[in-house]
Amino acid sequence: MEDYLQFCQGKTILVTGGAGAIGSNLVRALGELGARLVIVLDDLSSAVRWNVPDLPNVLFVEGSILDEVELKRVFFEGPELVFHLAALFANQNSLDHPETDLLVNGLGTLKMLQYSALARVKRFVYASSGCSIYGSSAPLPLTEEFVSLHLSTPYQITKMLGELYCNFFHHQYDLPVVKARFFNSYGPGELPGQYRNVIPNFIYWAMQGKPLPITGTGEETRDFTYVGDIVDGLLRAGYFDAALGQEFNLASGKETRIIDLAEMINAQVGNKAGVVFVPKRKWDTKSRLLASVDRARKLIGYEPRTPLEKGLLQAIAWFKENWERITAAARFEPGVSSAVRLK
Ligand SMILES: NC(=O)c1ccc[n+]([C@@H]2O[C@H](COP(=O)([O-])OP(=O)(O)OC[C@H]3O[C@@H](n4cnc5c(N)ncnc54)[C@H](O)[C@@H]3O)[C@@H](O)[C@H]2O)c1
Repeated sequence: MEDYLQFCQGKTILVTGGAGAIGSNLVRALGELGARLVIVLDDLSSAVRWNVPDLPNVLFVEGSILDEVELKRVFFEGPELVFHLAALFANQNSLDHPETDLLVNGLGTLKMLQYSALARVKRFVYASSGCSIYGSSAPLPLTEEFVSLHLSTPYQITKMLGELYCNFFHHQYDLPVVKARFFNSYGPGELPGQYRNVIPNFIYWAMQGKPLPITGTGEETRDFTYVGDIVDGLLRAGYFDAALGQEFNLASGKETRIIDLAEMINAQVGNKAGVVFVPKRKWDTKSRLLASVDRARKLIGYEPRTPLEKGLLQAIAWFKENWERITAAARFEPGVSSAVRLK
């Protein structure tokens, strides 16, 4: 086994948001790779308890990163590493709930950094968002040097704010921070929902024989990254010293048109209902997303390995295995702003 896969052995690790789409996959990996204890702090505001891996070395604490009592409780366990993934997710949700977005993603991240600094944790890995923080006028492929002040949703602003607080704690308190900028994660463990990403929602509609709603022309592109590759990047971020103080993209490095994605999912599921075009959302100002992974490759040896076709099959298999639980948990309440809903 490679060194970076062994680093968690015997360690106590805190994962905030560990019941979520990416967190649940990270928790499973850490648990199976031999962590002494993986503490999950998640308030289940956008997740379900059954998604937390049922392993003997995983301790689930239901609570908020804003709650001092819960923070004391989890830090009392003495985590050496913190993976901070809890967040209000994502763009549309933040338009509908801007104050909660600032509380959770801003103040919540500040509290996590304060507790981590006081506890002198060996590493604090922050889940940043490459899809968010580069704005819409950056040259492609997106590289880490580019900085934009023209962000189009509260979520994009607060994901950037989290990075700025990480930098502050790194400089002022020598907290060993790492900022991993994810791009369009997808895969097993991600529920469909009003505020969720396009892939779980497409799979959900396709499995019900409904047309897939495309917000825009379908020519828009995204850099879809299999969750297993993101988890691999996070494990590397937790191990390699070259990552300390750095920010880097975790992406697939490949661009996919939304229309091609929809057709791929319809073909894999066997859905004959095709697609429907619905108006673009005003905040959705990015027509193309493609990230460079050169910096992550250089610093931590990151290499995205999962082709989209293969990753989609894994996600669809997870949907089939958990269909009843997924349909019971899928949340498609009417949004305050415009949201895509299929009757
Ligand atoms: N999924 C993506 O494509 C993507 C892309 C870029 C960045 N990210 C970032 O990665 C992280 C994980 O994303 P995800 O896709 O797994 O989202 P997710 O919504 O599935 O996970 C976030 C988790 O945080 C929990 N949570 C929310 N508020 C909380 C609070 N106050 N206290 C404790 N827990 C709370 C939710 O219940 C959920 O389980 C987030 O920080 C997100 O901003 C995700």
